[in-house]
Amino acid sequence: MKVLVTGGAGFIGSHIVDLYIKNGYEVIIIDDLSTGKAEYVNPKAKFYKLDINELNLNDNKLEDVFKDEKPDVINHHAAQISVSESVKDPVFDANVNILGTLNLLENCVKYNVKKFIFASTGGAIYEETEKIPADENHPTRPLSPYGVSKLAIENYLYFYKKVHNLDSIIFRYSNVYGPRQDPYGEAGVVAIFINKMLKGENPIIYGDGNQTRDFVYISDAAQSNLLALKISLENENKSNINLKDEFKNKIKGDVVSKGRIESKNKKGNNRIEKDKNTNNGTIINDIAIFNIGTGIETSVNEIFCKLKKITKTNVKEIHGPPKLGELRRSCLNCNKAKKILCWEPEVYIDQGLKLTVNYFKKQLSH
Ligand SMILES: NC(=O)c1ccc[n+]([C@@H]2O[C@H](COP(=O)([O-])OP(=O)(O)OC[C@H]3O[C@@H](n4cnc5c(N)ncnc54)[C@H](O)[C@@H]3O)[C@@H](O)[C@H]2O)c1
Repeated sequence: MKVLVTGGAGFIGSHIVDLYIKNGYEVIIIDDLSTGKAEYVNPKAKFYKLDINELNLNDNKLEDVFKDEKPDVINHHAAQISVSESVKDPVFDANVNILGTLNLLENCVKYNVKKFIFASTGGAIYEETEKIPADENHPTRPLSPYGVSKLAIENYLYFYKKVHNLDSIIFRYSNVYGPRQDPYGEAGVVAIFINKMLKGENPIIYGDGNQTRDFVYISDAAQSNLLALKISLENENKSNINLKDEFKNKIKGDVVSKGRIESKNKKGNNRIEKDKNTNNGTIINDIAIFNIGTGIETSVNEIFCKLKKITKTNVKEIHGPPKLGELRRSCLNCNKAKKILCWEPEVYIDQGLKLTVNYFKKQLSH
């Protein structure tokens, strides 16, 4: 099984690559290293330094990768990830996040890729929600070009399924944090605060600090990508699949969850069938959208206090002006991923923060 991971030198993508390789998959990476780092590229993966952005593409290099490698699955994490940059330059955002993705999708059709896994966003797609935590059925009304481009690709994926029969899985992440996150970026409050604290500098809390986010640890986010791959490819090649124990146990039963029924095929193997009576039934072999978060809100002030304690630093709580248009509350209901992927966050905030602090301590000591 060959998986092409775009953005595989970046924060989330590099952890996914590591996990895929650990689980025996052959991995190819495409990354232009614009924000990713060569040192995060797993040495067991084949690496192509390449830009997916249509305007910068020449010589059909992207197509050459598809032609030469013939990947079975694309896991697409390369992106322009800054909300504020997308506001400043929506054309650049669209070139990378829309046209770049379409370049990939067109090649998927041409070279018979089986599955497209797409990194979307919870916060920037739902924006301020009526319900906390918000589930996947919550209205989407992005207020930034970044959110618009992510939603556009979700809609394109529906088109690619209906017209070209390309299956996809969409992950709407909450705020992912952990080792390798860029501490100099605009987002990633955890990495930014830790980096400042370990250097003895005071981090700035924008606004009153009571704004909340749903922080999900990187290994949990990566795990959702592994489960998605295993479950969706279950029927393709049974022998390659090393299902998670919980999933194994669940598929022994008759009804796994609403919308997904397990049965025996002629050879007696387990397989997952669509339950035509429910909307959810189409998701495994059609378009599947999953929120990936924890369902728990943590305020920026709480993050500050927890990190101050863990780093044992004497930094001051300094507040700056609120950021224009910043979300007040953001939190995702992830029951669908729990039911269907048997995915569950395993690293909760206190442990995740400790692990992240340890990582940054080591980085700074080098
Ligand atoms: N970090 C989060 O909390 C979060 C939340 C929601 C969604 N996401 C999405 O997850 C994905 C990964 O985000 P991340 O936080 O790991 O960011 P990241 O910047 O670390 O990773 C993005 C990777 O894509 C590469 N890249 C950017 N433009 C490219 C191009 N034109 N061609 C080839 N490679 C290119 C970068 O070099 C980098 O390695 C993105 O799609 C992002 O929108 C992240």
